[in-house]
Amino acid sequence: MSKDSPIGIFDSGVGGTSIWKEIHELLPLEHTIYLADSDNAPYGEKPEEEIKRLSVKNTEKLLEMGAKIIVVACNTATTNAIKHLRSTYNLPFIGIEPAIKPAALYSRKKCIGILATKGTLSSELFAKTSDLYSKDTKVVEVVGSGLVELIERGRKDSPEMEKLLTSLLQPMIDAEIDYLVLGCSHYPFIIPTLKKILPPKVSFIDSGMAVAKQTRLVLRSLDLLTESRQHKPEFFTNGDPHILDRIIPAPSDTFSISYMDF
Ligand code: SIN
Repeated sequence: MSKDSPIGIFDSGVGGTSIWKEIHELLPLEHTIYLADSDNAPYGEKPEEEIKRLSVKNTEKLLEMGAKIIVVACNTATTNAIKHLRSTYNLPFIGIEPAIKPAALYSRKKCIGILATKGTLSSELFAKTSDLYSKDTKVVEVVGSGLVELIERGRKDSPEMEKLLTSLLQPMIDAEIDYLVLGCSHYPFIIPTLKKILPPKVSFIDSGMAVAKQTRLVLRSLDLLTESRQHKPEFFTNGDPHILDRIIPAPSDTFSISYMDF
């Protein structure tokens, strides 16, 4: 592995492209390779062992492609599998966790909402973080059942999405939250619909920028930041490339997409 090796990123599907965007904007010289495991999405309701197995499969593929660092751009995979990945492979892993800390610090009402998958909310890692920051803050947790499936089917702006969110968010509206933590890398794509449903005073927090900064910090500390511009970002999916193409937050002539069986 060298400075010019790629940054490998994987997610259960298309949602982690919200994290890819932050990394690409912060580190534009770096070559990025993104794996969308859409064929196995969603991870959110799968047992821990299955999430670990899928995370290992994605990691092996990124290693084969020469990754110098791996970003687990999926909250469910981070909370359930990153410990196992770190103890199995000899390269740095960056994970993504729900941004409870800043939300609890900024909340004036001391009442925040967390929207995440069942797998994230029931994990040991999440419980530890939540216990630390929820002492003086009420935390309304909601499992976003069905949201990832709709986003993976290209239905992020659909009437079904609005209907589903309206019912999921009711406990948060009743509790009068002023911050909503987006605890799944797919959710930044539904902010326009969230804004329609939640009162205007509610702010949103996701972890994309924090993940990008951590990636830069770790690469710098290992002297692995590239010094010359690499090739275009590459996206690989084992699902429908058209859905991935439509969601990537960048002009379509600036990256490449291929179908790959992995
Ligand atoms: C999922 O695959 O269910 C969600 C991905 C995430 O937790 O970020």
